[in-house]
Formats: sequence, structure tokens, C-alpha cells
Amino acid sequence: MKLTPDDIYSKKARGEKITALTAYDFPTARILDGAGVDVLVIGDSLGMVLLGDETTHQVTVSDVAYHTKAVAKAAQRALVVADMPYRSYLTPEEALSNARILVRDSGADAVKIEGGVAIEEQIRHLVRNGIPVVGHIGVLPQSVEGKKYRVFGKSEPEAESIMKDAKLLESLGVFAIVLECVPGTLAARVTAEVKCPTIGIGAGASTDGQILVVHDILGIRSSVSPRFVRRYADLENVIKQAAEGYCRDVAAGTFPSQKESF
Ligand code: KIV
Repeated sequence: MKLTPDDIYSKKARGEKITALTAYDFPTARILDGAGVDVLVIGDSLGMVLLGDETTHQVTVSDVAYHTKAVAKAAQRALVVADMPYRSYLTPEEALSNARILVRDSGADAVKIEGGVAIEEQIRHLVRNGIPVVGHIGVLPQSVEGKKYRVFGKSEPEAESIMKDAKLLESLGVFAIVLECVPGTLAARVTAEVKCPTIGIGAGASTDGQILVVHDILGIRSSVSPRFVRRYADLENVIKQAAEGYCRDVAAGTFPSQKESF
């Protein structure tokens, strides 16, 4: 049965961890869904992971919509969350019309949006108009220049602004909050002080769930390799070896064989 935002929200009260991964295409989403991943996020990370961009800034609503359609078709059980790209929610009205493209037209079950106090009105407008929202605070890749990522929330003022954002997001009615690259102790404090679940990335083990970029856990290497990633496979080498084997066979004239021909 397909998970709903309420199912994800209520996992926290039951003490069940939430599993989330990014997904950008149909075959990968089908495999992740079958493996029991709760939430598939069509992250704007697709710009860096799939398209070779330096940042997420070039990703458009049409890009996310295109990939969301593929993931939504594959998700039998997982909740599908589409990212609101850079500059797609400058006003509450723009946020809503772009969110509708991702939810109503492309099949996402919810949107994720970066920021807290600074985008209060946008989030309020989305929730009031029936769009389920996942908040995202801590490091906000859309606000980072280049690849200068650093842990956010080590100083008291930063920690307080994260706490304030988290409480605001909760009061606005988001059904989960992504906490990116914040100290584990702060993530634990946020998790204890808000009722909605927290989903961490580089935020320690105390959050109510975890999210990673799928290419990172599969070992398809990129130029950025955050230390909070755990690799569960080495697909880069598997793919390379398969391609080398194919090239060898074609060059040697051993592919296709009789059996592989009509
Ligand atoms: O863009 C993205 O992939 C994300 C998740 C990793 C949280 O924001």
C-alpha cells in the first residue's frame, strides 16, 4: 500500500525510523521501492549527480517534473517527494504554481523546500492549499556558493536559528524536516523538541530517519565525497567492468554469438 504523509509523520510516535533516498529515474526507483525505502526524493541534487553541474542552481522546475514523472510511475509503496528548485518559490504564489506542477501534474505526493523563517509565507501558502510539505534546514545547498559546504549550527546563534526554523516549520504544518549537515547534538535537540519527524543527512544518528543520495550509497563516485556517506556497493567498478567486457567481446568479434542473433 502506498505510504502517505500521515504514515511518515506517525512513524515517529511509533519509534520507527524513516528510510529515504534520492531517486531520479524509473528503474532505480522501482528497485528502491521494492527494497522497502519509505521516501524517494527527486532532489535538485540531480543537477550535480546526473547532469554534471557544479551546483544545484541550474536545475529547473521542468527538470524536477521530468524526473518526478519517472519516479512516481515506479513507486508502488514509497512516498514521492519532489524538490522545489532554486528560485522557484520567490513568492507564495510562485511557490504554489510550481508545487502544483510537481504534485498535480507530475505525480509527486509532496514537495521539499529549503529554508525556514525566510520562506514562512511560501510554506504557509503551500500547506493552506493542500500541498504536503517537507521542510529542509541546516545547510541549504541552494544558498551555498560553489561547493563550500560546511557544518551549520556549531555556534550558538546558528544553533538558535536552526531551532527557531524547526519550531516554525512544525507550526506551519510540514510533515517532516530534513536536517542537513548539523552537529549531532543539535539534531538530537531538534528531534526531541518537535513533534514531526526529522530526517538527517550528515546530522548524526538521533534523527527520526536518514536520507542519502542514491549514487553515493551505490558507489558511483562524484567529485564530492562527503564523510557522512556510507557506500553499500561499488557500482562504478561493476559498470566499468561490464562495459570493458562488452568492448572486448565486440572488438574480438565474439559478440553477438549465434544464440544472440535472429
Ligand atoms: O537535493 C537533494 O538530493 C536533497 C537531499 C539529499 C536531502 O536535498
